[in-house]
Amino acid sequence: MKMLDQIAANGGSCDTYRLAAMWCRPFQSTPVRHEPILDRFILRRFQRVSEYKNKITFAIVSTMPHTNPTLDHQPMGRVKWLLSALVPSAVRLAIQKWRLRRLNAEFADLPVSEIFTQIYARALWGRSSDPLQPHCSGTGSRDCAVVDSYVSSVRVWLQTFSTPQSVVDIGCGDFEVGSKIRDVCGRYIACDVVAPLILSNSRRWASYDVDWKVLDASIESPPPANIAFLRQVLQHLSNDKIACVLGGLVGRVDWVVVTEHLPQKPFVSNIDVPTGSGIRLIQGSGVVITDPPFSFQVNRSEVLADVASAGGRIRTIAYKISRPDDGANTDQ
Ligand SMILES: C[S@@+](CC[C@H](N)C(=O)[O-])C[C@H]1O[C@@H](n2cnc3c(N)ncnc32)[C@H](O)[C@@H]1O
Repeated sequence: MKMLDQIAANGGSCDTYRLAAMWCRPFQSTPVRHEPILDRFILRRFQRVSEYKNKITFAIVSTMPHTNPTLDHQPMGRVKWLLSALVPSAVRLAIQKWRLRRLNAEFADLPVSEIFTQIYARALWGRSSDPLQPHCSGTGSRDCAVVDSYVSSVRVWLQTFSTPQSVVDIGCGDFEVGSKIRDVCGRYIACDVVAPLILSNSRRWASYDVDWKVLDASIESPPPANIAFLRQVLQHLSNDKIACVLGGLVGRVDWVVVTEHLPQKPFVSNIDVPTGSGIRLIQGSGVVITDPPFSFQVNRSEVLADVASAGGRIRTIAYKISRPDDGANTDQ
């Protein structure tokens, strides 16, 4: 019973103690001379059982409605999540990389508009149960922890300007996030490359006084505004497309607010990937617009939000950029 004392000393709960006792029972009649070796053997077995027990508990708790509301948008989401939580992370990563390579090969020769139209049509970022807005822009637009922190800090920042700022929201997606900051902005233009998404948005958010526009920002410059939002858009684009989007902003906006999913640990920025549903996090990289090859010129920057999410962090930075007539906006 030395092992049980050890577990108790290490803070084992009643449950773990009972589980350990259950595992020890068949071995208790073993001759005393083997006890220390046996103790170690049983302890190892107990630790393994305990690991699995924790993993299963975590997986079950994660599928409960109050712990993971984003799964509500995905039929079969809970079952898939439960199964995937039980698969070792290295295997999960290998499967994710393989699926992404297959998708990227399918999308290789398509224009950006067609790639994202297919991503929504095939619900690669999840499904929406809202009949007025059948498109879902993924956990980044639905996960309360991520969205709430973004919305509260961006709202505070927008209210530091002396007048409501005009906004162009590039890659507005399902507008779940944009709808939460709309009231603290001036004129609001929401653009996306997916035409059916813009049509559903114009119906779903009809009372929000938004100008809706179908636009591929890697081909066409956005309408001028005080602030351009690029929330979790660049992360889905190849480096040449990102360079085009950034080039289209120069001289048209005073601020660019960029939100990107980045690795937790120090990383090599801007590793090139094909345009598609995946992001650089899987390669251990992330988009930083001020780093090469973009080296986007900014006057100054402010981190507005930084929240842990899905093995990385989602960071929002406001960049002040020059316009030829700079000085018109004296705020901040
Ligand atoms: C992950 S979603 C993010 C949606 C929204 N910004 C949010 O945070 O909830 C990325 C969006 O960017 C749009 N997008 C991608 N490339 C674009 C481009 N070149 N021009 C305009 N929109 C683009 C996609 O169609 C998609 O709706």
